[in-house]
Amino acid sequence: MTKRLIETLGGSTAMPPPIWLMRQAGRYLPEYRALRGKAGDFLSLCFDPELAIEVTLQPVERFGLDAAILFSDILVVPYAMGQGLRFEEGIGPLLEPIRDPTRLRGLETHRIVERLAPVMATVRGVAARLPEQVALIGFAGAPWTVAAYMIEGRGGGTFTTPLAMAKEGDPVLAGVIERLVDASVDYLLAQIDAGAEIVQLFDSWAGILPSGLRRRWSIEPLVEIVDRLRARAPQVPIVVFPRQVGHDALAYLEAIRPDAIGLDQSADLAFARTRLQPHVALQGNLDPLLLVEGGAALAAGVDEIMQHLSGGPFVFNLGHGVVPETPPDHVAQLVALVRDWRPH
Ligand code: CP3
Repeated sequence: MTKRLIETLGGSTAMPPPIWLMRQAGRYLPEYRALRGKAGDFLSLCFDPELAIEVTLQPVERFGLDAAILFSDILVVPYAMGQGLRFEEGIGPLLEPIRDPTRLRGLETHRIVERLAPVMATVRGVAARLPEQVALIGFAGAPWTVAAYMIEGRGGGTFTTPLAMAKEGDPVLAGVIERLVDASVDYLLAQIDAGAEIVQLFDSWAGILPSGLRRRWSIEPLVEIVDRLRARAPQVPIVVFPRQVGHDALAYLEAIRPDAIGLDQSADLAFARTRLQPHVALQGNLDPLLLVEGGAALAAGVDEIMQHLSGGPFVFNLGHGVVPETPPDHVAQLVALVRDWRPH
């Protein structure tokens, strides 16, 4: 059976467009909170295939979405390289920062796939249980975004140290990125072997880099990953999500040539339609807070996006992840709004 999402990523226009949501599995779902409680902490959930398979399938079963996205996290890659990582309630991820050549040399890239075997077991389990029309998305963080967490040691969005290193051309940052490129290629190929049909690269913090530094630290590592994946798995569509880069999305498109570009909620839709969509499928970009609000605001947000982007290859999604405050009913309403939308 042909899957609607895969067709769209191949360049066809579908009405209604396929829909899935970044962070579609997570704390806003009571059934997630129940399994998360059973697992204890978040990383144990990521590394327990039985539970992770369930969690991956929960939103697909509840809402009838067009894709399942592997339940894991972008930070399991540094964890598998041997960097200490824990998720602190109310704070987010905390890592032992990598800021000097000694710590850099301590990172191990050659055993990533072996150490992430439970993630591959999750992919295989989901692939075996997926409804036939639903596509399975694997993912990794883009090197810049993952390096930012590895160097800063925490989230929060300021990333002072990695940004200073980017400006100075620091060899430690270059070393972290180089190792992440290798690890990400191996990790994504292993996900593809296990049954991932599409891969998405999340560059959630591309937008904090000054525009002039994006090519070296964000775009070039993505080019390398995409070229190496294409050489080994040319059939697998690749989605790149460079969050908050504005019109630089065009530079990502031209250099990387992905199958789709993900847009965040600040994207210029007229620009996206005229300058990007003739060359690439687009994915996005509803403000996650409109999904919290629901009602007329949600309907108006959906309409604006559909007016601009549904005439070409397009995948409906949010501009960033579902937030924990989201009422699950609003997600059901969103799916209905997109599926019932007609040109007007
Ligand atoms: O999308 C999905 O449903 C699949 C699973 C997924 C998670 N994280 C689960 C998760 C995916 C694709 C990610 C990607 C991810 N992780 C990104 C890129 C996308 C983005 O949101 O920008 C980033 C930057 C991370 C790092 C990360 N993981 C942070 C900063 C946090 C803490 C903040 C938060 O939302 O809790 C996480 C934890 C995390 N990853 C949770 C989930 C469901 C919440 C953990 C919990 O249950 O407490």
